[in-house]
Amino acid sequence: MKGILWACNGVIKFMLNLCIATLFIATGFSSALKVKGLPFNRYSWLTTHNAFARLGERSETGAVILSPKNQQDTITDQLNNGVRGLMLDMYDFENDIWLCHSYGGNCYNYTAFQPAINVLKEIQAFLEANPSEIVTIMIEDYVASPKGLTKVFDAAGLRKFWFPVSRMPKNGENWPTVDDMVRQNQRLVVFTSKSSKEASEGIAYEWRYLVENQYGNGGMKAGSCPNRAESPSMNTKTRSLVLMNYFPDAPEVTQACKHNSAPLISMMNTCYEAAGKRWPNFIAVDYYKRSDGGGAPEAVDVASGHLVCGCNNISFCKENVTFGTCDAPEAAVAPSATGQIFSSAGSDGRPVQLQWLFGTERIRKDIQLTEYAHLDLFIMGVMFIGKVQVWWVIAIGDNMLELVLGGCHVVAGVVGGRPPLDLATTCQSQEP
Ligand SMILES: *[C@@H]1O[C@H](CO)[C@@H](O)[C@H](O)[C@H]1NC(C)=O
Ligand SMILES: *[C@@H]1O[C@H](CO)[C@@H](O)[C@H](O)[C@H]1NC(C)=O
Ligand SMILES: *[C@@H]1O[C@H](CO)[C@@H](O)[C@H](O)[C@H]1NC(C)=O
Repeated sequence: MKGILWACNGVIKFMLNLCIATLFIATGFSSALKVKGLPFNRYSWLTTHNAFARLGERSETGAVILSPKNQQDTITDQLNNGVRGLMLDMYDFENDIWLCHSYGGNCYNYTAFQPAINVLKEIQAFLEANPSEIVTIMIEDYVASPKGLTKVFDAAGLRKFWFPVSRMPKNGENWPTVDDMVRQNQRLVVFTSKSSKEASEGIAYEWRYLVENQYGNGGMKAGSCPNRAESPSMNTKTRSLVLMNYFPDAPEVTQACKHNSAPLISMMNTCYEAAGKRWPNFIAVDYYKRSDGGGAPEAVDVASGHLVCGCNNISFCKENVTFGTCDAPEAAVAPSATGQIFSSAGSDGRPVQLQWLFGTERIRKDIQLTEYAHLDLFIMGVMFIGKVQVWWVIAIGDNMLELVLGGCHVVAGVVGGRPPLDLATTCQSQEP
């Protein structure tokens, strides 16, 4: 049985058998800008898979969302944390365009998150407030309504930031420089998965400009990096950009900790070879904040280091010097996983007072529990260690749950069922 305790307010994090949800600010972009003036394709960008499918989100239709969730925080928070690539699934729904995580090309109340315009407006506000930042959107496009995408992007006020298809390199050339994109205020790059929309709406067909490896489980087999079906083969150099997916078919907040750690860097090296010795420009993951160390932002730093200056880390790049001159000796590419596991509290002899609550369907609703399938029982409580209040949860079931208690997220790992979630083992095994 896995119990996880996580205290609120950022005061202490107290966890049992929990790998770290790394809550640091992604360093990718800020440090990438240390070396400016390079083409867009000479940087790597942290990218969130199903960026809109947020844990704890309720459908704006009022329905409980039964679709899996892939991220923890809002688009605004993602952008503020350094995410610069957003994968969004868009559908016709309710006479509008909605963000939906669905199947068969149809959106349903229980798979619909919210109207796309809400999120596009968040992106608009970010671009407005951050005049030197560039954001890329990859649309998994199920929109068939005429000019549906055009209308919603226009309505969100994003037209003025649009990077035109006509300026995208068609034959493997360099992109315009980031400085140029900023100067011209063409700071929104949008790709669609529907090829016809390039001609009809001026929205770039994704795989005309980038190669991309297989997503889901098929992209997580160590040592191989096949292209996804729609993409040309990874080593197709007429595509200037490389996108690497690394997330499983079924997103899991706990497993993401393991996936976003050493295996991610390892796959990046595999994909580098598969892509004809090219580092990924976009690194797409679930739960981008989770890892046992530097995680996806660190992978982005490594890729950017190689892309920008030929060094193993963007932080080793020097301003205005020739490619290959690094600030620090080249480090091994594999990250030094820190594998921090917090354990045991109350061991200092202070009095520990226990209070117990048993979850029921009613309590679940009261405390805004995001429900997942096959959750049989959970027990939660509050414990006082001295004056520190610690909420805790033990859950029994096949899946995950998340609690939102007074703005504090409590995430519980689970017990039994499939797959065995031995967090301590999976995360510690990443240590060198
Ligand atoms: C779906 O949600 C809409 C509101 O967005 C509501 O009007 C409709 O009744 C819902 N349909 C079902 C089947 O619940
Ligand atoms: C790098 O070059 C830019 C423009 O040429 C200059 O403004 C800047 O001061 C230089 N930086 C260093 C560290 O030399
Ligand atoms: C990259 O540099 C950052 C900042 O110096 C550091 O925290 C990180 O551990 C480095 N990562 C690697 C893989 O060298």
